Amino acid sequence: MRSRILAGLLLALALAPAARGDDPKLVTKIVFGSCVDQDKPVPIFDTMAALKPDLLLLLGDNMYADLDKSVKVTPDVIRQKYQQMAKVPGFIKLKAASAHILGTWDDHDYGKNDAGADWEHKDAAQKEFHDFFGTPADDPLRKQKGIYRAEVYGPVGKRVQVIMLDTRYFRSPLKKGPFNPTLRYAPYLQNNDEGATMLGADQWKWLEAQLKKPAEVRLLVSSIQVISEEHPFEKWTTIPKEREKLYALLNSTGANGVVILSGDRHLAEISVDTKAVGYPLYDITSSGFNQANKGWRAPEKNSARLSGMPYGDNFGYITIDWSDDPRLAVQVRDEDGDATCGFKVRLSTLKGSGPVIVAKLPDGVIAPAAAAKKVNEKVTVQFAVKSVGGKANLYLNSQTDFRAKDNFAVVLPVKLQVGAWAKASADTFVGKTIRATGTVTVNKQGSVQLELADEKGLELVKE
Ligand SMILES: [Fe+2]
Repeated sequence: MRSRILAGLLLALALAPAARGDDPKLVTKIVFGSCVDQDKPVPIFDTMAALKPDLLLLLGDNMYADLDKSVKVTPDVIRQKYQQMAKVPGFIKLKAASAHILGTWDDHDYGKNDAGADWEHKDAAQKEFHDFFGTPADDPLRKQKGIYRAEVYGPVGKRVQVIMLDTRYFRSPLKKGPFNPTLRYAPYLQNNDEGATMLGADQWKWLEAQLKKPAEVRLLVSSIQVISEEHPFEKWTTIPKEREKLYALLNSTGANGVVILSGDRHLAEISVDTKAVGYPLYDITSSGFNQANKGWRAPEKNSARLSGMPYGDNFGYITIDWSDDPRLAVQVRDEDGDATCGFKVRLSTLKGSGPVIVAKLPDGVIAPAAAAKKVNEKVTVQFAVKSVGGKANLYLNSQTDFRAKDNFAVVLPVKLQVGAWAKASADTFVGKTIRATGTVTVNKQGSVQLELADEKGLELVKE
């Protein structure tokens, strides 16, 4: 009993500065990562502590409750492992060096490998999670089902919103394929069941509200990877409709500045999807603090990978230069503090064209963002023409700048400038809404466009 009181005291001391948001102090340095075995040294924590971050984000597997297969995981076991973690000297140092700390869980600190909504100790695990992160006893988060939360840091105009998703508490059972001897693993299959969910209804509703709150940078934290989809392990595309729903929500809310952070994979990589929303959507995976693969291995298939670090312990480091046109420098670093991969992006690049009003579109008619994903398919697309390019063939653009990443063009070639379009010019279309039926193609410059089969495939929509 005495040792439990002592351990509790140590835990409280270790986690004293855990914080709520609404801190007007400018955020310029953020460190993050995942996967730490509480029984092994974690030298990388010293490297991270030296950076004195404004935010420390723990992306899950913040301890491993289920490493000893001979021990049944109970709430007591979860508590003991958190207490062990809280006593790791490097962690105490890192905590003390960080202005704010936020966490979510993944499967091993939740209590069971790859577990979801049916994990029997999920409520007990939630209590232990909040005890570890120092959530006040009267905080409404303790009564909420699931540990999702969001906070905004920094002054108006320079706000960083951290959205911590809970990809465990509500997640529907996954479907596993047969054991694959080459992989030495039974890969997950897609779960396309009606109602299969990653976040659950309440969390989805909450997420929509969060994405509508004002913030300049939004760090969307998911313990599992969102963009990488070709590997056989856990990822958002185990329930494909849920990832579609996430992208649709990012589009419909017009949320700018979203950058995804993920963990889980025991490797680090940066993926980018240029089609999901109206701007490049990055997913930075950092895993683990001391649980990464130690030996070199061939990078797994990931068509969306920008750069990667297939072995070695790592953490993520984001610095934000808020002057003029603000810039985010994103790096993955190793335990020596060396950058192993990264990218830099202007905040103005992480901006779409505002909320997409999907409700206005009739059945069978889609918006440019959806049409852009249907290359070689026949679609009917509708949008307001913001600019028109070309002297002979006319290019009806969905964006003011035809080079914009989310521009979608309907091509009206000279040969189809007949009938209603015999005298067509830029003035015919700019500022008007068009509906066009044809085939989506990619031109030589890599831009997505729609080719009409005949002139009747294009019409002006009266609004
Ligand atoms: Fe892990």
